[in-house]
Amino acid sequence: MISFDKSERIFKLDTKNNSYIIGIYDQEYILNLYYGVKIPDCTNLFSRAFRPMTASFSPSNPHIGEGHFSVDVAPMEYSCNGNGDFRISALAVKNADGNNVTDVRYVSHKIYKGKPSLNGLPSVYLNSDDEADTLEILTEDKVTGVKATLIYTVFNDLDVITRSVKIENGSKHSVDLDRVFSACVDLPSMDFDLVTLFGRHAKERSREKRPLAHGLQGIASKRGSSSHTQNPFAALVRHGADEDSGDVYGFNFVYSGNFEFCAECDFSGTTRVLMGINPTDFCWHLEPGETFQTPEVVMVYTNGGVGEMSRIYHRLYINNLVRGRWKTEKRPLLINSWEAAYFDFDTDKLVSFAQRAKEAGMDMLVMDDGWFGVRNSDNCSLGDWYVNEKKLPGGLGELIRRVNDLGLKFGIWYEPEMISPDSDLFRAHPDWCVHVKNREPSIARHQYVLDVSRADVRENIFNQMYDVLSKYKIDYVKWDFNRNISEAGSALLPPERQGEFFHRFVLGTYELMDRLTKTFPDLLLENCSGGGGRFDPGMLCYSPQIWASDNTDPIERLTIQFGTSMCYPASTMGAHVSDSNRTGYETKGNVALWGTFGYELDPNKLTSDEREIVKKQVEEYHKYYDLIHYGDLYRISDPYFDHFRCSWSFVSLDKSEALATIVTMRRPEIPFFIFKFKGLDPDKYYECDYDGKIYSGSILMNAGINLTYRIDGTGDSMKIYLKEVRG
Ligand code: DGJ
Repeated sequence: MISFDKSERIFKLDTKNNSYIIGIYDQEYILNLYYGVKIPDCTNLFSRAFRPMTASFSPSNPHIGEGHFSVDVAPMEYSCNGNGDFRISALAVKNADGNNVTDVRYVSHKIYKGKPSLNGLPSVYLNSDDEADTLEILTEDKVTGVKATLIYTVFNDLDVITRSVKIENGSKHSVDLDRVFSACVDLPSMDFDLVTLFGRHAKERSREKRPLAHGLQGIASKRGSSSHTQNPFAALVRHGADEDSGDVYGFNFVYSGNFEFCAECDFSGTTRVLMGINPTDFCWHLEPGETFQTPEVVMVYTNGGVGEMSRIYHRLYINNLVRGRWKTEKRPLLINSWEAAYFDFDTDKLVSFAQRAKEAGMDMLVMDDGWFGVRNSDNCSLGDWYVNEKKLPGGLGELIRRVNDLGLKFGIWYEPEMISPDSDLFRAHPDWCVHVKNREPSIARHQYVLDVSRADVRENIFNQMYDVLSKYKIDYVKWDFNRNISEAGSALLPPERQGEFFHRFVLGTYELMDRLTKTFPDLLLENCSGGGGRFDPGMLCYSPQIWASDNTDPIERLTIQFGTSMCYPASTMGAHVSDSNRTGYETKGNVALWGTFGYELDPNKLTSDEREIVKKQVEEYHKYYDLIHYGDLYRISDPYFDHFRCSWSFVSLDKSEALATIVTMRRPEIPFFIFKFKGLDPDKYYECDYDGKIYSGSILMNAGINLTYRIDGTGDSMKIYLKEVRG
């Protein structure tokens, strides 16, 4: 709900439990007056905007009077460069005079039901206009004529506000956007830890926490993708807050390319946060009348701790981000050929996987990398998306017929945005790879990046994919992206637009994915980038699940999955049981169950005991599917703090059932172990499958269950399922 108090000139943006308050001050300065627990009114909120300043060093607007108000200390709703605010700026526009002094101020606003879609960009959507209201504040720099519309969508039943910005060049001259962030928030305190998700290949999204300090701090990617090394997520967690209580502000960027999250704490002890496209390697040229739309930031505030922040993100992403057939339809349980065979497969081998998979009750065989061109290792053929008949005699038709005859669906691997130097496509179009004049492109995994900022390149790749996907019965595509972008530039862009390349590349990828999913609406797309190098909300708009990591060791997966769960729900997290041998199959299955679940191994190599375990896991996948895919996640014992045991649970939204999983990562010194549930209804009674007894939710959460010596060995694990008993 959004209201505007005309006399006070204050906007009040209320979610279910929060208020976000914006005021227009004097010379049309737009101020961020409050963000936190819902408050009933806005009485005297402007007084918060006045902070200590030294007039000589914090410039003032001469019309207001020196020393009375300075943008250098005021909580600016969208900070500008060069106008006397010396903190980080959300907007910097180089104007026709060659300077980049920028100063946008309030002009008008509109409030309406619903949420606009963002031209060419993925974003959160509404299922009905009643779910949220939108405020658009039009601002203008009177000197340059550049207009910035600040767009806020406020959810009524969820503590979520989305933000983006649209820029229009309203002047008679061309301008360049040097910085254009999607969100700026000025908080009146620096009493926070910054929590972010760092990593590398096969070790993605490890949680990291640092106290805010004076000056700049933050995370960024300039790799051309959201990246393994930093995820576009950050939270400010109030000192003293924890998993279950306290103030948390979450920020997640709906974008798959270069991003920056930056926090600056100034001399007043306040914190400014910016999130948006990374200004490094970015410059967008706008001719008169042209517009630029930023991607969207999803902001969540709660005083219910980090766990509640995660659950809010999960509910939003399940209901308002993931779309299409596979949002609600049960996803097929798949077996993937990669770790089972790598490049060494033929039709018979794949069919033998399918045969075993069918016996275990699985639904789909996915043929990973190596089926096209002459690809028998990673050194060639990307771009040549036609079948290798030497490997697969009779082609895809024969293979898919045999797999389908067994009763299994069929999925296939692509890496559409890449090109091997050793490929027919590269030989025909050497200028189609991402490159800049006079520099040899760097090579990574023996491949170059394909310039999908170009429409002709996208057309070629789409047509190649269309030929295969329209001819055969293919139910699933794994879309990979195995290197980052260097020597970034496009042969088609003029020099003054080369700074647009990175963003145009991301827009090109989105267009390709959009076209593909619209042409084949039944296709299940699983994004992947050398594991989870592009695990972000932008990708989730096209692919409802993302391969979380190439690391399938169940113990190492725990930190990856804990980190990923900060904002991404289990239903999006690609997790498979593999051949890695640190634990038995039971624990591999228990960990992979916290995700989309599947297999990544040669099923012919399983012993008969292991085959029985797999059959049981397939049954459990079906039994717990709704609970895990649509339930609430509670992180209980966190591997970042507890080096011995890790545990989590899913609780159905009506609190009638729950499933807890506990893994022993290292044999603990102390065997005494009481396990306590979270998130149950204290007044409900539950039957516990561990001992067949009935307990109240209150007992299970407060007194707990004694599991002493129950899973005492390294790599052991167990699940406990609770079902409400009624009457
Ligand atoms: C990286 C992915 O993460 C793997 O699962 C596999 O698809 C390989 N690429 C194939 O090259």
